[in-house]
Amino acid sequence: MLEHMPDRIELAHLPSPMRELKNVNAAFPGKRLWLKQDELTGLALSGNKVRKLEFLLADALRKSCHTVLTCGGIQSNHCRATAFACAQLGLKCSLILRDDRDAAGRSSFGEANHFLSMLAGANIELLSSRDYVKQLTERFDSKIKHAAGGLYAIPTGGSNGIGLWGYVLAAKEILEQCQQLGFSPDLVVCASGSGGTQAGLSLGFHSLNRATKVLGFAVCDSAHYFVEKIEADIRHAGELAAVAETEVQQLLAELDIAVNDDYIGPGYARAYPELYQRIIELARNEGLVLDPVYTGKAMHGLLSELEAGRLSRYDNIVFVHTGGAFGLFAQASALINAAGTA
Ligand SMILES: Cc1ncc(COP(=O)(O)O)c(C=O)c1O
Repeated sequence: MLEHMPDRIELAHLPSPMRELKNVNAAFPGKRLWLKQDELTGLALSGNKVRKLEFLLADALRKSCHTVLTCGGIQSNHCRATAFACAQLGLKCSLILRDDRDAAGRSSFGEANHFLSMLAGANIELLSSRDYVKQLTERFDSKIKHAAGGLYAIPTGGSNGIGLWGYVLAAKEILEQCQQLGFSPDLVVCASGSGGTQAGLSLGFHSLNRATKVLGFAVCDSAHYFVEKIEADIRHAGELAAVAETEVQQLLAELDIAVNDDYIGPGYARAYPELYQRIIELARNEGLVLDPVYTGKAMHGLLSELEAGRLSRYDNIVFVHTGGAFGLFAQASALINAAGTA
C-alpha cells in the first residue's frame, strides 16, 4: 500500500531522535530498550499528533476548508495539537470537548491542554460526559451542515485512513535509524488511545520489515476493540486509495495485530499507584517525562511484562514516546502525593 501515500504538509521536526535507555537496560540483561523520541516532534510539544496532522491538514487545505473540527476529552492532546496547527496554518479550529472528571468529581477546566487550546484561540464547546455520549454525533453533523463544505472534520485522536500515514512514515524513519545504530528492531511498542499510531506502525512495518512486531498497550477500551479499530482505519486507507478489497483483506489477515489491555487500570485518564510509582522511577532513573494517560501506562505495561519474563523472544525493543507531557500537569498533585510515599 505504500505507493498510495496521500499528500503531506511539513509541520514536524523530523527525524525525531532515538536513544538507548541504558539505565533501564541494566535491569534486563540481554535486552536493549530504545526510546523513539516523538515527544520532540515539535508544534508546541504535540508528540504523535503532529505526524497525523501533516496528512490530515494537507487534506483539509486541498479541499479548501477554512475551519477544522475535532473532538476529545477535556485534556485531549490531539485537540490541543490541532488548535496550534490550525493557528500556524491560518485555519479556524472548533473543538467539542468532554468534561472528564477525576475520581473526586473535579474538572480540569482551564488547566493544561484545555488552557492551551483556549490560548491558541480554538472555539470550544464543552459537554458533560453524559451529553458527549448522547450528543456528539448530532453536534458534529450540525456543525458540518452549517459550514456548507468549508469545514474539515477530524475524528477522535486524528485516527483514520489519512492520519495513520503519519506512522507509516514513522516506521520507515525508525527502521533507518535502527540501521544506522546497527540493529534491527524486534518489537516496537506504543500506547493505543484511538488506534491510529498503532495502525500506521503496523502497516508500515508490514510493508517494510515483517520481522518487526508492533505491540500496543491500550489506555482505554479492550484489546478486541483496538484490533477492530485498527483494521477499520487500515480498511479506510485502502478505500481512499482504491486498493482492491481482496488485497486489503489479505493484508489484514497477515497483520496479526497485538494489543495488551492489562494496564488500563480504572479507566481512561485514571491512574493507579503502581503507575505513578513507575512515572517517578523513570523520571529519576532515566530523566524521562511520561504522562499518566498514555506513555506512562504503555511504559509501565512494557516494563511489567519484561519483569514477569514475558516478551522474552524480543531483544531489541523500541518504545515510541508519543508525547502528552501536559497530561502530567493535570494530575500533578496526585503524583506529588505518590512521590511523597516513594
Ligand atoms: C500522548 C499520546 N500518546 C499516545 C496516544 C495514542 O495514540 P492513538 O490515539 O493514535 O492510539 C495519544 C492519543 O490518543 C496521545 O495523546
